[in-house]
Amino acid sequence: MATKTTILEIKARQVLDSRGNPTVEAEVTTSKAMGRASVPSGASKGKHEALELRDGGEEFHGKGVMKAVANVNGVLRRGLLGLSVDDQRGLDQKMISLDGTQDKRRLGANAILAVSMASARAAASSNGVSLFAQLRKSDRYTLPVPMMNVINGGEHAGNNLAIQEFLIEPVGASSCAEAIRMGSEVYQSLRSILLSEHGRSAINIGDEGGFAPPLRLTRDALVSIRKAVSTSGYGEKDVRLGVDAASSTFYDEKNGSYKLDGKTMSEAALEDYYAQLRDEFGLLTIEDPFQEEAFEAFASITKRLGGKTKVIGDDIYVTNMARMRLGIEGNATNAILIKLNQIGTVSETEGAIGLARKAGWTAIVSHRSGETEDPFIAHLATAFAADFIKTGAPARGERVAKYNELLRIEEELESKVRYAGKDLG
Ligand code: PGA
Ligand code: ZN
Repeated sequence: MATKTTILEIKARQVLDSRGNPTVEAEVTTSKAMGRASVPSGASKGKHEALELRDGGEEFHGKGVMKAVANVNGVLRRGLLGLSVDDQRGLDQKMISLDGTQDKRRLGANAILAVSMASARAAASSNGVSLFAQLRKSDRYTLPVPMMNVINGGEHAGNNLAIQEFLIEPVGASSCAEAIRMGSEVYQSLRSILLSEHGRSAINIGDEGGFAPPLRLTRDALVSIRKAVSTSGYGEKDVRLGVDAASSTFYDEKNGSYKLDGKTMSEAALEDYYAQLRDEFGLLTIEDPFQEEAFEAFASITKRLGGKTKVIGDDIYVTNMARMRLGIEGNATNAILIKLNQIGTVSETEGAIGLARKAGWTAIVSHRSGETEDPFIAHLATAFAADFIKTGAPARGERVAKYNELLRIEEELESKVRYAGKDLG
């Protein structure tokens, strides 16, 4: 029998992401409402991520997603019509079995995720609730600390910084709105500092809205950011610093070494280097310090720095519970980055967050470097009480879409919400 949450129609189209590459947008319609969602795309992808289906050929330099769109409009639509959007897990399981592969390569994780997210939205609208409340109903929510990527390097920028991301983390704020204000002020101070110290080319920006100055050394980027924090009137304890090394991108597989800051470093030397940076700049987070198969190197740095620092696994886990279990057994990290499109459905993402919690890990919900204007992850982070949300600089539409949505959520929740900062500093 048809109810207000029964799926009446599913439709997808090809749209553009923030780098100007195609991505999938889907719409799921019930008798009450329509939910729309679009999927992001990474540049420094993990080897074990769910597969993003691309067309190949001439159009869009091979990056078209019309095959994924056809899979939504064909096999997924046929399989899901008549089912209820209230049963997220059931819908996701149905899509996983229609695909039938481990990494969603037949239908494409981009096709499946677009439908999964659009279904959650359709459910929220049909039930007249906000998306976060549809994902998890509660009397109290916790809002995440923004991790704002204010200097871009690695594969996200045309400079020579090997480290991909330099982040500010306003843990000392008393609300998410205040954290966003502090982040924005530090970002603008950093702009002035880079401009006066390195000239106009230093304020060009990278893929995630952070500055992409022509610096070469990790230390130089951190020194500028530290200065921007103090110029803005904040203490080192109020706005903590972090890095995402995304180190698979500067790992030399042949020699088992890492190339950064003009040096070739062994695993042990790189660990010492991170320890030095941690002590000098009080880094609160270090993400992907080693290449994505180096579970033992991760375990070693976590043992050494994990008391005061969150060692975050991104490419090593790719939001995949099987890989997370390896990390839990080996004490590889004490934190994880959670990305919807690494695994490909909303309910599997929820499962990964649950497993992280059980392991006592810090959970960070994250965007991708190729994003859309969809603020879905602001709701995901709120629903599942993520400790942090990593969604770029406080600049550029596709990045601020998420921060702005957090402002709306905080306003809507009024006294039913707390800010995670105090637990993390
Ligand atoms: P990506 O970068 O989206 O290019 O993978 C984000 C990250 O590494 O955290
Ligand atoms: Zn990362």
